[in-house]
Amino acid sequence: MNKPYKILAINGSHRSKNGISEIMLQKFLKGARLAGADCETVYTSKMKILPCKVCHQCIVKTPGACFQKDDMQALIDKIENSDLLVLASPVYFDTMPSDMKKMFERLMPTLGPVFEFKNGRTYHKTTSSKKQQVVSILLCGNPERECLDSIKGTFQRIFNNTGGQILGEFLFTSSSLAVSHPELLANQFEALTEAGKEVVSLNKINSETIKEANTEYIADYEADITQKNKMFKELREQNGLL
Ligand SMILES: Cc1cc2nc3c(=O)[nH]c(=O)nc-3n(C[C@H](O)[C@H](O)[C@H](O)COP(=O)(O)O)c2cc1C
Repeated sequence: MNKPYKILAINGSHRSKNGISEIMLQKFLKGARLAGADCETVYTSKMKILPCKVCHQCIVKTPGACFQKDDMQALIDKIENSDLLVLASPVYFDTMPSDMKKMFERLMPTLGPVFEFKNGRTYHKTTSSKKQQVVSILLCGNPERECLDSIKGTFQRIFNNTGGQILGEFLFTSSSLAVSHPELLANQFEALTEAGKEVVSLNKINSETIKEANTEYIADYEADITQKNKMFKELREQNGLL
C-alpha cells in the first residue's frame, strides 16, 4: 500500500486555533484530507521555541543538532518527513509573527557549513537533499495587497535559499471579513479547498485555482477602513472609553 501524502501545516498566529489564519488553513486542509492526505497542524505559539543563540555549534561542533532542548528538533524531523509544508501566517508589523520567526531562525542546524554565491546572491546550502514543497497562506488586516509583499518576499527568499519550491501562495487582505462577511470570500474559500485537493492528487495546484483563490473581494478600500474605525469606536464605547 502506498504511504499517504503527508502534510505538515504550521500556523504562526499568536491566536493559534482561535485566529483567522486557522480558518483559511482549515479550508485548504479540508480539500487535502478529502484527497486522502494525512495532515497535521502545529502552532508556533503553543510550542517551546528558544531563540537561536548564534553560537554556530550546530554547524561546527555538533553538526545538525542544536544544544538547546525544546520542541525544535521534533519539528525539524516532522518537516523533513512531510511531503508538503503549509505555512499559514498573519502579518504582524509587516512581517511574520515572532514565534514563527524564531522557528525559522532555529532551522540553522539544517544549514550546512557551505555558502555559495551564484546568480548574484549568497546561498547558505542545506544539508538536506530534499526539495521541500511549500504552500503559503498569508493574511493581513489592511485591505491593500501590498501589506503582504514583505512576508511573501521573505518566504520566497527563504525557500529559494533552501532549494524548496512554493507550489501556491494564497493571499487574504482585510482578514476579519472572513468572519464578518464570509459570503464575500465564498469563491476564494472554495478555490482554497480545491487547491488542497489538487496538491495531493496532482502534486501541483492549477494556475486557474490559484487565480480564483486570490481574486480581489474588497470593492472599496476606504469604505473598508471606515468600517474598521467604526468597529473600534463601538468597542471603545462598550468599554466606557467614549
Ligand atoms: C501585533 C499586530 C500587528 C499587525 N500588523 C499588521 C500589519 O502590519 N499590516 C496589516 O495589514 N495587518 C496587521 N495586523 C492585522 C493582522 O494581520 C490580522 O488581524 C490577522 O487576521 C491576524 O491573524 P490571526 O487572527 O490568525 O492572528 C496586525 C495585527 C496585530 C495583532
